[in-house]
Amino acid sequence: MKKLLLLLLVCVMSLSAFAADKVQIGFFAGSTGSDVPAAQKAADMYMKLHPEIQVNVLTGAKSTTDMLGFLLQNFEAQSGDVDVFNGDVIWPGDLEEHLLPLNDYMTKEEISKYNAAVVTNNTSPEGKLLALPLFIDVPMLYYRTDLLKKYGYDHPPKTWQEMEEMATKIQDGERKAGNKEFWGYVWQGDAYEGLTCDGLEWIASNGGGTIVEPDKKISINNPKAIKALEFATKWVGTISPKGVLGFKEEDSRAVWQAGNAAFMRNWPYCYKLGEGADSSIKGKFDFTQLPEGDKRSASTIGGWEIFVSKYSENPDEAVKFAKFAAGYEVQKMRVLDYGWLPGMMTVYDDPEVASDKFVSKMGPIVAKGVARPSTATAPNYAEVSRIFYTTVHKVLSGEISAKRGTKEMAIKIKKVMQ
Ligand code: GLC
Repeated sequence: MKKLLLLLLVCVMSLSAFAADKVQIGFFAGSTGSDVPAAQKAADMYMKLHPEIQVNVLTGAKSTTDMLGFLLQNFEAQSGDVDVFNGDVIWPGDLEEHLLPLNDYMTKEEISKYNAAVVTNNTSPEGKLLALPLFIDVPMLYYRTDLLKKYGYDHPPKTWQEMEEMATKIQDGERKAGNKEFWGYVWQGDAYEGLTCDGLEWIASNGGGTIVEPDKKISINNPKAIKALEFATKWVGTISPKGVLGFKEEDSRAVWQAGNAAFMRNWPYCYKLGEGADSSIKGKFDFTQLPEGDKRSASTIGGWEIFVSKYSENPDEAVKFAKFAAGYEVQKMRVLDYGWLPGMMTVYDDPEVASDKFVSKMGPIVAKGVARPSTATAPNYAEVSRIFYTTVHKVLSGEISAKRGTKEMAIKIKKVMQ
């Protein structure tokens, strides 16, 4: 973390020296997939319109959990280095005290263009708008169309059970054919926020609830949740590499995009990257909703917002840039060039966006969304999620049973919420 801080400071200092006469805006973007090029493009678009402003894109965090850690250090120091940042949909409730509320800078009409459910998520109980919806994220099951055909399947799997069977058969066949590095299924098993998303999907699709329910009832200790965790534990070292327990989004994509996996659970950003000119699976894959458990298909609702730090030394300029970075032109560019689904609803009516095949195919998957309990547990969501992902990680590693894991989680979450 210290290294990251240094890296960012070096970046800020050198850029400041270079353009000392301009107003400096530090824009902290994530570093997953096309996050950095998309943020840089937005910054360039803005600087072209406003030559008196220098937007410095800061980057370096490898996951949402790392990025939150860095931001918390930055807030503690009340540092103005980060003026505007991309942040996770689960953060507004926890970060409120460090944010600049945006209501004073925006009309009701401007706000009404954004996805209403996300605006509600980003609004404090006292009515402060804490962030602008940038993109909506829902994970999908990516699958190899060529391999499904080769092994006699005419449709992607509907259930987790079916996915497991297909992954086993394809993996056996590909290994026998000589690819010793081939795996049936890759996903995110490292102990971080990504595992909360994957774990919630297994449990919710099996009818085992959402860890903590909207009425604040702690539901994690139940037989359906236990069964779902036991089911996924079998995958580690069979259809998924043991190393999956250290995988974040980009690790899974690396295996998948090298052509070494039949199925992958990941977010929409992987689509355009997989179709890129340098991708070995270009034209050989498609996607569908995540498999069903006993009950349904459940995709964790993710997404990223644009936030303004309360410690910004140029709040007016920071807000102006934030509104642009979450505005129409940038969101249109982001979906057409990179496949990030707009958080501003009016962008979907744009003729170029409306006719985009990828966007229309995502519609039914968005409808399968399940929310993490970030509102029910605010301002302690990060801690509740940490309990969930560290315990699920222990279950997946075989350190403790799913039964013991769910029991322990319920006790620890209760303490945090008291
Ligand atoms: C994606 C989602 C975000 C989630 C994260 C987990 O970035 O948009 O909401 O927390 O993945 O790794």
